[in-house]
Amino acid sequence: MKILTAEFVRSCLKPEQFPREPLREVALVGRSNVGKSSLLNSLLHRRGLAKVSRTPGKTRAVNFFLVTTDDPQVRRFYLVDLPGYGYAKAPKSVRISWGPLIERYLADRPQLRGVFQLVDARRIEPQDRDTFQWLLGTAGTPVLVATKVDKLSRTQRSTSLAAMREIFGAAARLGPIPYSSITHEGREELWAAIRTMLVASSGERLEARGER
Ligand code: GTP
Ligand code: MG
Repeated sequence: MKILTAEFVRSCLKPEQFPREPLREVALVGRSNVGKSSLLNSLLHRRGLAKVSRTPGKTRAVNFFLVTTDDPQVRRFYLVDLPGYGYAKAPKSVRISWGPLIERYLADRPQLRGVFQLVDARRIEPQDRDTFQWLLGTAGTPVLVATKVDKLSRTQRSTSLAAMREIFGAAARLGPIPYSSITHEGREELWAAIRTMLVASSGERLEARGER
């Protein structure tokens, strides 16, 4: 499969701004600074398409990226970059508006076909488990991605992946998929997961309405 185009479409601070067309979507969820925007750039082979920062709290809106590929079953879809959770230093006004916006997006979006939950391979926080549990009951079972694996030694890596398997247990849909936005390890596996999410039968409703 070849990526034909990848472009930033819209940054939304309110649900009313979310795109209306019946295009299937896949979203990236995770703690602030876990590497969501970096992973999006890595997946799409486009440096700097989504803004990345060393400081947590960089992404503050729900950002929609339109992707087109040469795969007949995955011709057009949105990849959605979300603000991170767990960023305590954000101004209170911003913090209060973040949660509801993201929750609303994840719980109410009919176009949403799948969610990747990114967890820093070096550190699993209670909030990661809470979010995982919450997603199970709303957006559906997320696919777990262990990020920044380039920072781990081989031993640390197997310990971390084993810990993730134990913590998230049998409820996890797959994985966790080890990922590095530096070496791009995991990219093929993630694309395979995206394809599965998008072609799942629940997508047929939208396709019947002329999306493909
Ligand atoms: P928010 O938008 O604040 O929620 O953060 P984010 O999850 O989008 O993280 P972002 O992609 O902005 O990355 C945060 C920091 O982690 C940046 O300094 C990145 O360069 C770094 N980073 C992201 N992915 C990787 C990775 O796979 N390996 C390494 N070594 N660093 C990474
Ligand atoms: Mg970001």
